[in-house]
Amino acid sequence: MKSTLFTNFFTGTLRISQSKLWLIFLMGLMAMAVMADEADNRQVLNLSNPQRNHVLGEMRSLLAGTQMILAALTKDDMAAVAEHAQALGFNMKHKAENPLHDVLPKDFMQLGMSMHKDFDLIAADATSLKDPKHTLQQLSATMGKCTACHETYQIQVSSLKSKQ
Ligand code: HEC
Repeated sequence: MKSTLFTNFFTGTLRISQSKLWLIFLMGLMAMAVMADEADNRQVLNLSNPQRNHVLGEMRSLLAGTQMILAALTKDDMAAVAEHAQALGFNMKHKAENPLHDVLPKDFMQLGMSMHKDFDLIAADATSLKDPKHTLQQLSATMGKCTACHETYQIQVSSLKSKQ
């Protein structure tokens, strides 16, 4: 019994045709390509755990604020647009740039500052022009800065800094 099972298994294995072997080889290559694709090559920001929490907290406020601007736009409520945009402006509370000024790279800081200034302009224009389409164009351009920064940087917690 045992030996028949063994023979069946063995001949079964041998029956794999050459084309199937190629297929297996190609699938292996594809898996390797996918793994290479998933490597995170973005520039690393080495932060302590509290510093990381601070940056990510600001990020979640940015996302929530952007969503509120969009919600106000659907109602043509330009006063609310201005209010929510102002909250993400240069004087944004808990802005990551303030305490992390010496930790974050200069280019990162500049991109962040320029995004906050954009929100100030969005607020000012929402008040003076009251043109939802114009605000949408501005918001779209500003969100290009969100994506540009996300494509460039990643945060990693450095164990050396985690006690800071
Ligand atoms: C100057 C750089 C920069 C800008 C501008 C920026 N972000 Fe981020 N954001 C980051 C970094 C760095 C991370 C962490 C990414 C990582 O480690 O993979 C992040 C993470 C996030 C996260 C994840 C938060 C979490 O809790 O994990 C959200 C949401 C986010 N950003 C939203 C936004 C939005 C919305 C905007 C624009 C309105 C924006 N960000 C603009 C740098 C930026």
